[in-house]
Amino acid sequence: MKKFVYFLLLSSLPSLLIGQEVDSVPASGASAGIGMDDLVLLMLVILGIVLVILAVAQVKLIRTEVRALQNLERKSQGLEPLPEPMTLMDWYRRKVVGLKPIEMEEDLIMEDHSYDGIREMDNGMPPWLKWMFVGTIAFAVIYMAWYQVLGYGPTQYEEYAAEMEKGNAIKDAWRKKMADAMSEENVTLSDDPKDLAEGKQLFLDNCAACHGNLGEGGAGPNLTDLYWLHGGGIKNVFRTISYGVPEKGMIPWNDQMSPGEIRNIASFVLSLEGSNPPDALEPQGDLWTGEETQSQDSSAQSVDSLAITEEPVVAQAQ
Ligand code: HEC
Repeated sequence: MKKFVYFLLLSSLPSLLIGQEVDSVPASGASAGIGMDDLVLLMLVILGIVLVILAVAQVKLIRTEVRALQNLERKSQGLEPLPEPMTLMDWYRRKVVGLKPIEMEEDLIMEDHSYDGIREMDNGMPPWLKWMFVGTIAFAVIYMAWYQVLGYGPTQYEEYAAEMEKGNAIKDAWRKKMADAMSEENVTLSDDPKDLAEGKQLFLDNCAACHGNLGEGGAGPNLTDLYWLHGGGIKNVFRTISYGVPEKGMIPWNDQMSPGEIRNIASFVLSLEGSNPPDALEPQGDLWTGEETQSQDSSAQSVDSLAITEEPVVAQAQ
């Protein structure tokens, strides 16, 4: 009994050590590390294994004792003792490797397969190899049924699509991270249709009330022309949207939107340039000739048409 208690203590030592480790490591996530429940489970599993080993040893002990008694009886009746039971090694040699006991080798020699005194024995294929062969056939049948006939498993195309989806999620997360690190210092114009679509939706939801659905202007200025009160180009527009012009009724948006969202709106606004929507407000501000205008060719044309019909209203100094 004392031994058993020692054994239990020893076998639970690793789990105790693991427990220590877990305690000293700060929890960095819900699923990280081993929880208390896992520890209890681990100890129960170890206890179970120990009990099974003990039970097997007990059964073996009883069997040996019973055979010893039987042999005593057989001896008194003048009979041969019972044969020794098969050991694990015997089982391995016979059933797995397929070796015949050395006494039987004489029977296996093939008389007509003898060359220069080297005689061949008629040994069968080792069972492990035979069963592996059978196993590959069974595997092929199951595999074909699963993927080809029943269509349960994913095909290469489905696996590819799933991988792509995963990859795109990683890419999107990265883009979002990059977008959130943006400021008016380093922001760049996006021409990605996905970004522009997001920008358009945000514009319709937040800005169209003052700037019109098409950016033609209303309470706020026309955003589709080449004239800007606060500068054109992605960096200026990004800054105007971020900080607003509170005294003129244009609120700052940087407390409601992420930098990435503002970049997308600004990119969308700049994509409207030269679109000449109906009922557009007169241009205000100065002609923006800096880089980063969306389409240099078409904008040159719209400058001309504006120049002919009307003088741009230059912003009053404030
Ligand atoms: C409450 C009305 C209102 C809303 C809503 C509004 N704006 Fe404005 N916006 C204005 C006004 C007014 C101005 C002109 C400021 C000035 O005169 O300096 C302006 C100016 C601008 C300018 C500068 C134009 C120039 O010529 O330099 C940009 C760009 C702009 N808004 C974008 C947006 C975007 C994008 C949104 C939505 C996120 C938005 N605005 C929402 C009223 C609004």
